[in-house]
Amino acid sequence: MVAEAFYRYKHQEDTTAFTMWQMLEPQAETIRAGLARLFGCDPNEIAITRNASEALQILLFGIDLRSGDEVISTTQDYPRMLTALRQREAREGPTVKLVKIPLAPENTDDIVNAIEAAITPRTKVILISHMVNITGQIMPVRKICEMARARGIETIVDGAHSFAQLDFKRDDLQCDYFGSSLHKWLYAPKGAGLLYVRKDKISKVWPLMASVDKGKDDIRKFEEIGTHSSATRLSIGEALLYHDAIGAKRKEERLRYLSSYWMNRLKKLDGIGFNTSFSPDQFCAIANFKIEGGDPLKITEYLMAKHKIIATPIIHAEFSGIRITPNIFTTLRELDRFCGVIEHLVKNGAAKAQYS
Ligand SMILES: Cc1ncc(COP(=O)(O)O)c(C=O)c1O
Repeated sequence: MVAEAFYRYKHQEDTTAFTMWQMLEPQAETIRAGLARLFGCDPNEIAITRNASEALQILLFGIDLRSGDEVISTTQDYPRMLTALRQREAREGPTVKLVKIPLAPENTDDIVNAIEAAITPRTKVILISHMVNITGQIMPVRKICEMARARGIETIVDGAHSFAQLDFKRDDLQCDYFGSSLHKWLYAPKGAGLLYVRKDKISKVWPLMASVDKGKDDIRKFEEIGTHSSATRLSIGEALLYHDAIGAKRKEERLRYLSSYWMNRLKKLDGIGFNTSFSPDQFCAIANFKIEGGDPLKITEYLMAKHKIIATPIIHAEFSGIRITPNIFTTLRELDRFCGVIEHLVKNGAAKAQYS
């Protein structure tokens, strides 16, 4: 459905420049309105970007910061965003502080406390993932944002994995800024993203590509990126329809059900551990497990080579494991096959002997 719409728009935009700029491009306003409805904000607070990286880098480079200011993030935030912060630090001097957050905590207040402990009077911005991509941890975003706001600190939420995976609205987060990719859980074509900027903050954020003529309060200033495909942006509309047809709550519940299914089966095995909490408010589609003594790289290579099972090795300075991510169309039979392979590996000591 989304792919068909994409090709339809693609044919249309390639006919004449008039078709693209005068007929198709203005329809992006409908997409803006649809994204705003899903996120629970005013359409004039939503910019359509090419991905989460672009949305978040607009913020990480566009918010005024100077030497002496501090930005806090975590060691588990997405590497490209941390690289952006490091580049900013190298060029302009704001100090970047990365906080270690506990893995699969009993109480998510431990995460809030770890971040709060790093705050000083110089802290200006906190960047946090809504869902940590390497563990699937759902962060206590609202508590962090409220704690930050009470101290006059702005919050940027990296929602690359949460948007359209979890059923939430802007007011559930209380963030100032939010960025996401739409080609992940909304199933839009690759090259589609969303940037949210709270209305009263738009005028103070510089766009990545200059657009002084665009009116500083206009969220569309962040979309002045030169010639780009309308087809990608417009087919977000079909992805939104598909999302609505499934239902945001049903989608979240289905994804959590599938993760719980394989997690609960594997947890019965000796020698299996988890880098993801089993608490329903802390995980959904993504979870990370480990086989004692097993090398995640070798095990995931084996899973693909021998069983055509896609799993992602996660090697982080603080922990390692294997990330499993079912999608709504994943069947229980497929999860049984995956669990069967892991059970076989663990029972035969193969994870230790052959693959580590
Ligand atoms: C937490 C997180 N942030 C940002 C990104 C960047 O997304 P994109 O490559 O679509 O810009 C990803 C991608 O996986 C991610 O997991």
